[in-house]
Amino acid sequence: MIEFSDRLKALPPYLFVEIDKAKREAIAQGRDVINLGVGDPDQRTHQPIIDAMKKALEDANNHHYPFDAGVPQLRVEIAQWFKKRFGVDLDPATELYPLIGSKEGIAHLPLGVINGGDKVLLTQPAYPAYQAAVTFAGGKIQYLSLKAGNGWLPKMEDIEKAKNAKAIFVCYPNNPTSATVDKKFYEDLVAVCRAKGMIIVSDLAYSEVYYDGIKPPSILEVDGAKDIAIEFHSFSKTYYMTGWRLGWACGNSMLVAALAKVKSNCDSGVFNAVQYAGIAALHMDGRDIDDMRAEYQTRREALINGLRSIGWKIAAPQATFYVWAKIPSKFNDSMECAKVFLDQADIVVTPGIGFGKAGEGYVRMALTVSTQRIHQAVERIKKIL
Ligand SMILES: Cc1ncc(COP(=O)(O)O)c(C=O)c1O
Repeated sequence: MIEFSDRLKALPPYLFVEIDKAKREAIAQGRDVINLGVGDPDQRTHQPIIDAMKKALEDANNHHYPFDAGVPQLRVEIAQWFKKRFGVDLDPATELYPLIGSKEGIAHLPLGVINGGDKVLLTQPAYPAYQAAVTFAGGKIQYLSLKAGNGWLPKMEDIEKAKNAKAIFVCYPNNPTSATVDKKFYEDLVAVCRAKGMIIVSDLAYSEVYYDGIKPPSILEVDGAKDIAIEFHSFSKTYYMTGWRLGWACGNSMLVAALAKVKSNCDSGVFNAVQYAGIAALHMDGRDIDDMRAEYQTRREALINGLRSIGWKIAAPQATFYVWAKIPSKFNDSMECAKVFLDQADIVVTPGIGFGKAGEGYVRMALTVSTQRIHQAVERIKKIL
C-alpha cells in the first residue's frame, strides 16, 4: 500500500476542495462565472518578449541543458535593473541567481539553510508556499498572527521575543492582505534580525504592481541587509509572464550559494530561451508597465467604489492586484461567504482561511478580470447582500 511521506502529511488540508469542485461544476453547467479567485493576470504576455522567445527557440545552442547559473547576460541585466530600480549594487556572479519562478526558489531555499527542528517565523495570513517550504525542510513554524489594526504587519517586539528562531519570511507588498511597508520597516527588521542572528527571506513578487506612484522598497536598500537577507523577485506579475516560469533570488552570497547548490541537485535551471525572453522583458519600455498599473488602478477603483456604494466598507490596496475585504456581517465565516458568492452570484472569491487561521473573517478578490466584469460582479453582489 502506497502512503504519502510524513512531510506531505504534515501539510495542512487543502481547504479549497469544495469551492474548487463547486466552481468546476458551475463552469461545466455553462454558468457565467466571474473568477476573482486567481492571482494570475488575464493579459497576454507583451509581444517583444514573445518575439525574443521565438528567436531564441531557433538557436540550437538553446536546445541543450541551460547554463547552470543562468545566461550570463541575464544576470548582468538583472543587476542593472536592480540598481536602477532600488539603487542597490548586486554582484551578478555571486549575489543573484535565476529561478524557475520565484516559488521554486522559495521552496528550495529552506533545504539549503534550515535543519530539522530549526524554528522559522512565518507571518499569518500568508502565501501558503512558505509553510510548505519550511515543512518540507523539517523546520518548526512559529506563526506571527497579523491583525488589521496593525496594518497587517508583524510587531518588532514579537520578532524580538521569539526565541531561537533561525529565519523569518516577509512579503511586502503582501499576498493576500496587500499590505505594504516603507524602508523604515525594513531598517527595524534588519536591526532586530541582525542582533538575533536571524536570516530574513523577503518575497518581492509584487514589487512593480503598485498604485499612486508609491514604489515598494527592497529590503536590500537597508545598510547591512545583505549580511542576513535574501530576496525573491518574479517576472510573473510585472510582465504578464506567469506561465513562463522565471524569477530570481538575490542578496547575501552565502544564502544565494545555498539555494544554487540545492537547485543544482534538483533541476537544471531555466530553459535558456525563457532567459532570453526575460532579457527582452527587462529591456521593455517602462510605459508598458505603467499601462499595467493604470489598468489595475482603474479596476481597483471600479471594485472598491462599486462595493462601497452598496455598503461594503473596504480599504483600497496600495499595491498588488488583491482586494482584502472583511466579510459582510451576514456571513459566519470566509468559507460560507465564498460559497454563497459562488452559489448565488456565480462569483469566485478566495476565503481568507486558506491563508491560515489569521485570515479568517476575510476574503480575497483579485483584480484579474476586466473593469466591465468587475461592474457586473458588483451588481451581482448587490443582489445577495
Ligand atoms: C507572494 C507570492 N510570492 C511568490 C509567488 C510565486 O510567483 P512565481 O513563482 O510565478 O514567480 C506568488 C504567486 O502568486 C505570490 O503571490
